[in-house]
Amino acid sequence: MLAIPILIAFIAPGAAAQTQTWNGLSYQEAQWHPLHFKPAAETASNDDCLACHADVLQRRVRAETPAGVQAGDTLGWYQTLDTYAGDQETFHRRHMVTEYARQVMDLKCNTCHVGNDPREEAGLSHAGGDPWLVLRKQVDPNTCLLCHGRFPYEIMGVPGPWSEHGAAFQNNCLLCHVTFRTHRHQVNYLKPDAIEALAEEQQDVCFGCHGGRSWYRISYPYPRHPWPGMPELVPDWAKDRPTQSPARFLIEVEQAAAPTQPPASAPTPEAAPPSTPSPNAEQNR
Ligand code: HEC
Ligand code: HEC
Ligand code: HEC
Ligand code: HEC
Ligand code: HEC
Repeated sequence: MLAIPILIAFIAPGAAAQTQTWNGLSYQEAQWHPLHFKPAAETASNDDCLACHADVLQRRVRAETPAGVQAGDTLGWYQTLDTYAGDQETFHRRHMVTEYARQVMDLKCNTCHVGNDPREEAGLSHAGGDPWLVLRKQVDPNTCLLCHGRFPYEIMGVPGPWSEHGAAFQNNCLLCHVTFRTHRHQVNYLKPDAIEALAEEQQDVCFGCHGGRSWYRISYPYPRHPWPGMPELVPDWAKDRPTQSPARFLIEVEQAAAPTQPPASAPTPEAAPPSTPSPNAEQNR
């Protein structure tokens, strides 16, 4: 009879894993929970997601690699900006939990995760497929491009890459940007006032999101919000630009801080809102 308790001891952990629930739901029910899909994904709070995915913000990187390299002994090129601080951290923690992330950003789970299809993950594989699925990705890379694009010096009158020519401008973006494009960052995943304040203290604050960590060779085609003193003539590169941030990023934004509409008395054909949809139209769905 001794065998029975031993047998149970072996089976029990497996049985427990099978019946583990996520907020009272089976694995299947949880995986296909409506919060993973539009429209619920669009209005979910972080707490809604963290109820099941708390681990996303709890996990830490290994202290050392399997080969024995200490995590703290290596730095990526993108970890040399003067805003980078603290120990190596996971992707999610670097965007939501670490000190710098909290200072300048207010990213939500659904800033990046607005639904994907765990079964399919590819658009147009059949007639009824969702054409907007981004192949095998859970997040539309356009979202990353917002903060990880190339520095578009060509449109700024800066002669070349910031790493080479920044010094000529005292490494200070605000030299020009106290005047140009001053209506910026009024979106629900950034902290606009904190960004401006920090940028006066630390040189890499602006560059950090506009070229200093560029994972892409292209730049994000930002909306071009009217600013006081904006020239009436719209440059060619800006003709198709929207003049407002995508709607989903404007939910719960206090517009009070940004009363910078151009005077109503100066309507020019150039200033008319562009007819093309925002480059974000896809990720807005
Ligand atoms: C009721 C529990 C529950 C809730 C609430 C929940 N999830 Fe999940 N989620 C799961 C489970 C279970 C899986 C499958 C995990 C796996 O296979 O590793 C999953 C998978 C995922 C995946 C991976 C999808 C894939 O294609 O592999 C992402 C991303 C995700 N969830 C994000 C979210 C976000 C964002 C929210 C809030 C909007 C959320 N989840 C809410 C339980 C939940
Ligand atoms: C800055 C964008 C961003 C934010 C904000 C974000 N995620 Fe993710 N998340 C990603 C990316 C990118 C992946 C990897 C996707 C892939 O492999 O296709 C991922 C993967 C995941 C996964 C599956 C893999 C894993 O690590 O377990 C889950 C679950 C998940 N995220 C949940 C969340 C939750 C919950 C939140 C909010 C607390 C959140 N994410 C916030 C971008 C983000
Ligand atoms: C709202 C701006 C913003 C968005 C959107 C964003 N990032 Fe980031 N990302 C940052 C900032 C700021 C840092 C630097 C954080 C730091 O140094 O503490 C960073 C750091 C990183 C790092 C380096 C992490 C490390 O350990 O040094 C990677 C990789 C990364 N982002 C990838 C992505 C990907 C992939 C996406 C899209 C799913 C994304 N980011 C979306 C702002 C953003
Ligand atoms: C020599 C002046 C000058 C300097 C220095 C400068 N900018 Fe600009 N920047 C401009 C001008 C001019 C524009 C375009 C204005 C317009 O929309 O007509 C611009 C546009 C931008 C845009 C919008 C790009 C787009 O596609 O809509 C961003 C983002 C930007 N600058 C960030 C920066 C950052 C970050 C720095 C510092 C690393 C910087 N700028 C330094 C003059 C400058
Ligand atoms: C944490 C990341 C982050 C930092 C730091 C940051 N930006 Fe941005 N910036 C963005 C994002 C994201 C957008 C697009 C927001 C939107 O959709 O309106 C943007 C938009 C802009 C634009 C376009 C404005 C317009 O017409 O809408 C300019 C110019 C700009 N940033 C300059 C700067 C300058 C100058 C600094 C430093 C004072 C700076 N950025 C710091 C992420 C950042």
